[in-house]
Parts: sequence; structure tokens; C-alpha cells
Amino acid sequence: MLYSICQSSSSSIEYDSSFKLNSKINGTQGFSSEQGTNGVTAPISHDKSSDRDFKKKKMLFKHLGNINFNCQSSSSSSSSSSKINGTQGFSGEQGSNGVAAPIRRRMSGNSNDLPNEPNMSHLGSKDYQNVYEPAQDSFLFIDALKKDVEYLKGLRPLVAVEIGSGSGFVISYLSMLLNNDGYFLSTDINPIAAMTSTRTATHNNVRLDVVNTSFLSGIDRLLGNVDVLLFNPPYVPTPSEEIEQGGIAASWAGGIDGREVIDKLLPQISNILSEKGCFYIVLVEENKPAEVVAIMKKYNFKHKVVGYRQAFNEKLYIVKFYRS
Ligand SMILES: C[S@@+](CC[C@H](N)C(=O)[O-])C[C@H]1O[C@@H](n2cnc3c(N)ncnc32)[C@H](O)[C@@H]1O
Repeated sequence: MLYSICQSSSSSIEYDSSFKLNSKINGTQGFSSEQGTNGVTAPISHDKSSDRDFKKKKMLFKHLGNINFNCQSSSSSSSSSSKINGTQGFSGEQGSNGVAAPIRRRMSGNSNDLPNEPNMSHLGSKDYQNVYEPAQDSFLFIDALKKDVEYLKGLRPLVAVEIGSGSGFVISYLSMLLNNDGYFLSTDINPIAAMTSTRTATHNNVRLDVVNTSFLSGIDRLLGNVDVLLFNPPYVPTPSEEIEQGGIAASWAGGIDGREVIDKLLPQISNILSEKGCFYIVLVEENKPAEVVAIMKKYNFKHKVVGYRQAFNEKLYIVKFYRS
């Protein structure tokens, strides 16, 4: 079911998930593993990089000023707005983390009787002109949820929510992972994405309510009741103005350091989550994840890095925040 507010209504990866906030890395803050070997092996695998992957990387690189692209630009042509040299970061670049394995993706079958990823055959390239196509960040997200399945089941969540569900790939997978047991809702600021999430849920026999809104605006009855909250945010550093463009740009345009959308949500997390609730977020190195951890610490949240992958030049993290 689709509601509108405002306008109208998973070759698995192996990694050591016991990361902790490290004080300094080359004079900068960052994460490192407790053992010093995060050994991320055999990252996942996608047959080939999608157009969406490419467009998003193009945006990232464009704004980081790392690479020249000869093809058509999708939005603003302004120059770099992000600093990655000599600033805060995770320790992914340390030798101990060395994650340079080729990207491969198992498309079916699971060793632990976990569900296969949602069937997305109902969507095609035309849909992905308006909605974020599942990419390496989405795949890492569902792999991290798979890895955390015992924790998630132990939580016995009554209410699970994804903010920014896009195609509906991740929230549909979470529902499947939890045997459709509980109440599942997702939101998206892009109305076409909201409708697409509904289509994906239906296509996969998942019960999902979808609301076209920003974050959880207008759904006050959920406040304090969300046991699992997911967000794969627009994290690409861009000029701030790009955030307002809406449409497909809302999938990646993250403003300064790719943090502007993320930083609006962080202060709301403690009001959204139930006492036992947890929050999973996708971050990239450019977002200065250690700063995000520090912000959440002020709200008495602990954290754990439950997924890490280097895909192209992007260092992707899935960080879980929880109270106890
Ligand atoms: C990187 S895409 C992730 C899509 C999907 N969750 C996935 O992992 O494949 C980010 C999504 O967040 C949505 N979004 C951006 N800002 C939002 C906001 N303030 N509230 C709700 N959704 C938002 C975008 O429209 C987009 O669908």
C-alpha cells in the first residue's frame, strides 16, 4: 500500500565485524579492527557494473575531482566540494584491511537457508531512470543484514522501517529475512521510488506499507516504536543545491561531505527508535564515519561496523547503532 505525505502520500563476504573507533590514523580519526586484520575476503559480486553504479560513481568522482568522465553529466557541473586528503577517515586503506578482491556476486542460493535476494525482474532500465537501481551499496547492505540475522531475529522486531527505500530491494529483503514476521514500512522522498517499492514488495509477496515523505515526517505514531531502522542515504559529496533537485538526484546528492541529509536525520534517531531499537546506515569514507559515530555517541548509541567493502574507489561501510 502506498501512502503519500507532503505531496499527496543479499559468495558472501567474510569480515571481522568487531570494529571499534580508533583514535588516530595518520593524525586523523578513523576505524580499525580490534585484531588489526579485518580480512574482508571475496567481496560480493555483481556481474557487471550497472548504469546506476556508473552514474553514481561518476558523480562521486566528479565531485572528488579524481577522474575525468567523457560522457554526459547528470547534474551540476561545479567542482570538488569534498576533502578526503588529510582529513578524518576509516582505516580501510591500512594494509590490514586490504580489500581489493574482485567484485563477484552470487545470484542465487544461500548456504544458511537464508532467502535469496528479492526478484527484481519486474523493473527495467526505464524504471531506473527515475529510481535508484540496486548497486554495490545495496548489495553490501543486504549482505550485512544476512550476517546479522541472528541478532535481528533475537530482537524480535515488531516494527521495521527503511528510510529511502528506492526500488524496495533492501526492505523487501529484510522482510523476507525475518519471514515477513512484523510490520514493515518504508518511506521515500521520491514519489516514483515510493511506488516502485510497493511494486517490488508485491512482486515478492512481501507486506509493506510505503509512504512518500521525507524521513518519517507525518508518521508520528511510529516515533519510539521502530525496532529496526535502515537508511542507505544519498551520501555522495555534492554542492548543497543539488539536494533540492529531487527526483533521481535525491538518490545520491548528499551535499557537503555527503553528510547534509545524514546529519538532518541523526538527531532524530533516538526519538524514532524503540528502547531496543537499532539503526543501520550506509556510509562512505568521504562522509567521515568517525564523526558520525561521535555524533551518535552523544545520544548514547554504541556502534558496530557490520559490513565493509571497497567497490571501485568507494569505501563502503554498514554501521549499526544500538543502545545496549
Ligand atoms: C542511495 S538510494 C538507496 C535506495 C535503496 N534503499 C537501495 O539501497 O538500493 C537513496 C534513496 O533515499 C531517498 N531519499 C533521499 N533523501 C530522502 C529523505 N529525506 N527522506 C526519504 N527518502 C530520501 C532517495 O530518493 C533514494 O531513493
